[in-house]
Amino acid sequence: MTVNEPLTFRTSRAVAAPALLRGVELDDTVVALKRAPASEPAVPLRFDPPAEAAPVQALPDPEPARAAPPAARRGSGRLYLVARSRGGLGATSFAVNLALGLQAAGRKDGRHVAIVDLDLQFGTVASCLDLPDRGGLVALAQLDAHPDAHAVRAALQPHSSGISVLPAPKRPIPLDAFDADRIEALVTQLLDLHDAVVVDLPPALVGWIEPLLRLADRVFMVTDLAVTSVDCARRVVDAFREDAPDLKVDIVVARERKPFFRGRIHREVAEALDTPLNHWLPPDPKRARLALDRGEPVLALAPHSAWARSIKKIVGQLA
Ligand SMILES: Nc1ncnc2c1ncn2[C@@H]1O[C@H](COP(=O)(O)OP(=O)(O)OP(=O)(O)O)[C@@H](O)[C@H]1O
Ligand SMILES: [Mg+2]
Repeated sequence: MTVNEPLTFRTSRAVAAPALLRGVELDDTVVALKRAPASEPAVPLRFDPPAEAAPVQALPDPEPARAAPPAARRGSGRLYLVARSRGGLGATSFAVNLALGLQAAGRKDGRHVAIVDLDLQFGTVASCLDLPDRGGLVALAQLDAHPDAHAVRAALQPHSSGISVLPAPKRPIPLDAFDADRIEALVTQLLDLHDAVVVDLPPALVGWIEPLLRLADRVFMVTDLAVTSVDCARRVVDAFREDAPDLKVDIVVARERKPFFRGRIHREVAEALDTPLNHWLPPDPKRARLALDRGEPVLALAPHSAWARSIKKIVGQLA
């Protein structure tokens, strides 16, 4: 494939073409992304890999492509999913710092942690860590066979903290560039290769979330206490539990210090969510801004701040 060819993804024939895919042609097995007229929405028109991106075919793959079935067994690592009730609350910041915290806590044991940004269209894990996207997820979406350990290793990017990162594509791709089998194969490989894997989920309830829920050790639902957010959080958790009834869900209250005494609002929210309010992330707009400007998560930037300490406390509870 050259950089001028349209990016292609295998997808199911039955896929409906939502608004996001206008300008996309569907045939039996392949969605080809084409440049859409200027009036169309700015979601993937044509894939021009960024200058720094490794070409997709450069992923070394010495073994012939095998039509491997989705991996049947679960790797030994822990899988933590991060979901959110509404945008902009700090879910990605939390996911990134959780990965860093887990890595730091397990340093003596040589623990390896990976973070995967499955917010495929607007993920910001890479910018939180000041990393470029080298096209790993796009390459994994385009493989003929489900990803094996070799392909997953080649797609991961190292970060100076020691964690491995699979960033969201620099340019948005359709959510159905992946299907449930491929996501299951990817995550199973990641769990084989790492002691812990953190996944930043997309806001949409896509079909390929199901294997993640089935394999997850815990979901962190990041929310604030506004009625609309709590309502959304409940709907998302209910939808998750339809797929995975035994799922452990921890509520992470964003932009709130842990109260000394739980007031009426806290009791009402816990009741509405049918889950205790487990964790609290205090507001820290100055450091949040600095963290983004520097591409340095708060755990590295201000490890003794209340915000960093609250994340370390959560990490400690997972040990
Ligand atoms: N504890 C905090 N206090 C103040 N601001 C924060 C905090 N955590 C994150 N932020 C800021 O909130 C904004 C959104 O953060 P982030 O991208 O982590 O949230 P998100 O929930 O993943 O958003 P999105 O819906 O875009 O995925 C960023 O500007 C970030 O710096
Ligand atoms: Mg986010």
